[in-house]
Amino acid sequence: MGLRDRLKSAAKRAVGKDANPRPASSGPPPAVRPSAAAKAAAKPAAAPPAREAREDEPAIARTGDHKADLKLENRVKAAQKREARRQRREEKEAAEEAERLQLRQQEAARRAEAAKAKQAALRDEAAAVLQAAAAAAAEAGRAAVVEHTVHVYHPDEKIDASFPCEEGEVLLDAAARAGVELPQSCLNGGCFACAGRVESGEAVMSDDQYVMEQDKIDEGFYLLCCSTVKSDVRILTHQEDQCSI
Ligand code: FES
Repeated sequence: MGLRDRLKSAAKRAVGKDANPRPASSGPPPAVRPSAAAKAAAKPAAAPPAREAREDEPAIARTGDHKADLKLENRVKAAQKREARRQRREEKEAAEEAERLQLRQQEAARRAEAAKAKQAALRDEAAAVLQAAAAAAAEAGRAAVVEHTVHVYHPDEKIDASFPCEEGEVLLDAAARAGVELPQSCLNGGCFACAGRVESGEAVMSDDQYVMEQDKIDEGFYLLCCSTVKSDVRILTHQEDQCSI
């Protein structure tokens, strides 16, 4: 190695010593001056500017201590959330209660309507039963009534008519009910104005006060104002002259 090479090698070694750190054994490291960024990082963070409270937020008495104010704000927010949950729960319970009440009202209305319909059905049924009973009674009454046919006639008086007469009904009453006009006067058996002669069938003098003699009755003469029939009869009317004494 020439002189020049030895000089270059010495220079490189000198340069390498300056670039490498000092070994630990060589003593305490020299104090490093902190940079401006490190100084800024080491400084405590400045408190952020206070946020303006919204209108719907409750007023918080801030102390100026950021951590304390933040803790207080979180507690207030938690309380607000609990209050909102409580209100929602109460609203839900109120809505459920209102729905249950509405269902009960609907059920009560449905039952009232059903009871009303049932009552109307019972009323109609009772009316039908009463109507049927009345019809049956009327039918039974009609069946119990025995009617006979009375034929009255007189060629000269131009009378020739037939009418129904219930058994026990007075002949003149049955004739009047049918619109058949027959001679009459006292209507109590005291004269002979209504006298007629029964030519067929059976008649009965039902009033004891009549003035007709028995022999006349035996001949078939009857006072129609106090006589009834027990069968269909045929009567010749206008027999007053035949019965007078
Ligand atoms: S109307 Fe006089 S007896 Fe019949």
